[in-house]
Amino acid sequence: MSSELMTQTAAAVAETAPSHPLLKPGGNLREETVTHVHHWTDTLFTFKTTRDPSFRFINGQFAMIGLFVDNKPLLRAYSMVSANYEEFLEFLSIKVQDGPLTSRLQHIKVGDRIIVGRKATGTLLQDNLTPAKTLYLLSTGTGLAPFMSVIKDPDAYERFEKIVLVHGVRTVGELAYQDLITKELPENEFFGDEVKKKLVYYPTVTREDFRNRGRVTDLITSGKLFSDLGLPPLNIENDRIMLCGSPAMLADMRTMLDGLGWQEGSTTGAGQYVIEKAFVEQ
Ligand code: A2P
Repeated sequence: MSSELMTQTAAAVAETAPSHPLLKPGGNLREETVTHVHHWTDTLFTFKTTRDPSFRFINGQFAMIGLFVDNKPLLRAYSMVSANYEEFLEFLSIKVQDGPLTSRLQHIKVGDRIIVGRKATGTLLQDNLTPAKTLYLLSTGTGLAPFMSVIKDPDAYERFEKIVLVHGVRTVGELAYQDLITKELPENEFFGDEVKKKLVYYPTVTREDFRNRGRVTDLITSGKLFSDLGLPPLNIENDRIMLCGSPAMLADMRTMLDGLGWQEGSTTGAGQYVIEKAFVEQ
């Protein structure tokens, strides 16, 4: 199926009253309307919703989103793919056929309503990292999501001389947002020139043929990532890392970085790396 056929867009979405008594004005949950759905593969999709202007977040954060199931909100943490200055919200999700939320969420259509929590949070914040030259954004699967908002953040290009986005997936079809990263962002009217100068994208695939093959962790330990990009090996003085993806990848990277003496940053103290798991496993 062509991507056009797989993509639905709402020309205009009418405001409607909350569909559930739990959605009180000023409460912790609100409803947004789906404006766009795109299925990347039979296990991965993306959707956009309206955005209440009072919903504020820092690029890299996540919110609780979901659906009413049996009259109760069923919520999971989803990182915003959209940047905090965009007028819509965008999320990236896997589809698990018997997953409590994603078995339902994968069927959403333009005009449907989803619940969005009012509060955004998370550790993938530039302020949680001490200043350095290069920012590595290392992701697997839907762990790409928060880094999409980071690479759309003009601040990130002010803070770092280079931003290296690594996305590891099983199959080529799961390399979501390639066009946005390689074609649209470099043409952005405000910070496209910075993107052209500073953003490096390194997609890698583990279970199919592709120009870059192998796990993110192996590409780092072997040094192949750095030689492919013409960059020096990881260096605690010059480099900072944000990590998001599969728990196994995060555990391996944490062991590696802690072994090298790197410190994890948080809101209580900036460090050399920060971690967030890609939350939705079902
Ligand atoms: P692999 O195909 O070798 O398992 P998943 O779809 O399971 O979340 O995996 C997404 C990507 O993360 C896959 O390419 C997978 O590679 C990779 N991956 C899984 N475990 C690790 C790990 N411990 N370190 C690095 N990459 C990993």
